[in-house]
Amino acid sequence: MTIAQLNIHDFRNINSAEILPSPKFNFIIGDNGSGKTSFLEAIYMLGHGRAFRHQLSSRIIQHDKSELVLFSKIISTKNKIHSVGLSKTRSGENKIKIDNDQGFKLAELAKLLPMQLITPEGFDLLSGGPKYRRAFIDWGCFHHYSEFITLWNNLRRLLKQRNALLKRSINYDQLKPWDKELVPVANRISQIRHDYIEKIRHEIIKTSHDFLPEYDLDCQFYQGWEQSLDYAQLLVENFERDKLFSYTTIGPHKADLKLRINNIPIEVLFSRGQLKLLMCALRLAQGEFYAQYHNQACLYLIDDFASELDLTKRALLAKRLKSTDSQVFISAVDQEQIQAMVDENDKIFYIKSGIISE
Ligand SMILES: Nc1ncnc2c1ncn2[C@@H]1O[C@H](COP(=O)(O)OP(=O)(O)OP(=O)(O)O)[C@@H](O)[C@H]1O
Ligand SMILES: [Mg+2]
Repeated sequence: MTIAQLNIHDFRNINSAEILPSPKFNFIIGDNGSGKTSFLEAIYMLGHGRAFRHQLSSRIIQHDKSELVLFSKIISTKNKIHSVGLSKTRSGENKIKIDNDQGFKLAELAKLLPMQLITPEGFDLLSGGPKYRRAFIDWGCFHHYSEFITLWNNLRRLLKQRNALLKRSINYDQLKPWDKELVPVANRISQIRHDYIEKIRHEIIKTSHDFLPEYDLDCQFYQGWEQSLDYAQLLVENFERDKLFSYTTIGPHKADLKLRINNIPIEVLFSRGQLKLLMCALRLAQGEFYAQYHNQACLYLIDDFASELDLTKRALLAKRLKSTDSQVFISAVDQEQIQAMVDENDKIFYIKSGIISE
């Protein structure tokens, strides 16, 4: 999948822009505050319905404007052209148009435009809480298991209802009907997550070894409770504790991906540059697995490419990205930082105060 045309209107400091990206590498060069991250956020929003720095639409829509509008032409691997439009109002209402039809859901947008994002904010994947790693795992589960989205929505609903009921319940029997529904959903979600991690583990370890050859990464999935134990039984045993907190303390909503080297958590061991490389390794491994599985490349958005990386590591990352044969958008403050990566079919865009030129 590649973006052949992109129009951005009233998105942060970008008033109006139309660009025709290369199917290979696209570089966005500009000073601090020129709009590079905003530009990448606009692409991200096309595939997610939200930006990655702020959820609030009022922060993303240009000051004094009532809505933002994004439009793109996408070419699928079968050379089919799709037009995708998205508008968002200040109240947060999304309108999605695909091939001139309205009323699509965000999940349909996400299926059409799979992308991997590598940004300084993305360090949360490794040094933030488990929710960031769950989001990473669930991206893959969503794209590889069609039943996952329904299961995931059910899990959210059931946990919300269960937590509300915990406040009022006197004994476990009152929760039984909920848990009868919750347990199979929780078990299936965990099974899918296990399965997905098993599938990409090799790719994650291989890619992280390419970037950080001196380390042997250990990557273990934790499903949210001890795997040898029965979830239904644990819910019964934990009733008093859950009631005390009015919160279900164990379950798939506590899952995590534990990344360690010699039993030391990587966020304790690694420098910023090493964390960035590992984050890239995870995203690339996931993107590559997606590409092999679906026979369709996913898009990469890389903000502030050069930050934290020395010249050798930049070259390594560039080489690996080139080998994916994907469409890539890379931002940098200085053309010198990316000059060595630019090939014949790539494009360079310059951005100044939100105005983009090729
Ligand atoms: N809703 C908005 N309306 C108008 N301008 C905005 C809005 N939100 C942010 N901006 C401005 O957009 C400009 C571009 O920000 P952005 O983060 O995209 O810059 P950048 O090129 O990525 O900078 P850096 O190199 O420092 O990362 C900033 O000056 C910011 O204040
Ligand atoms: Mg930026």
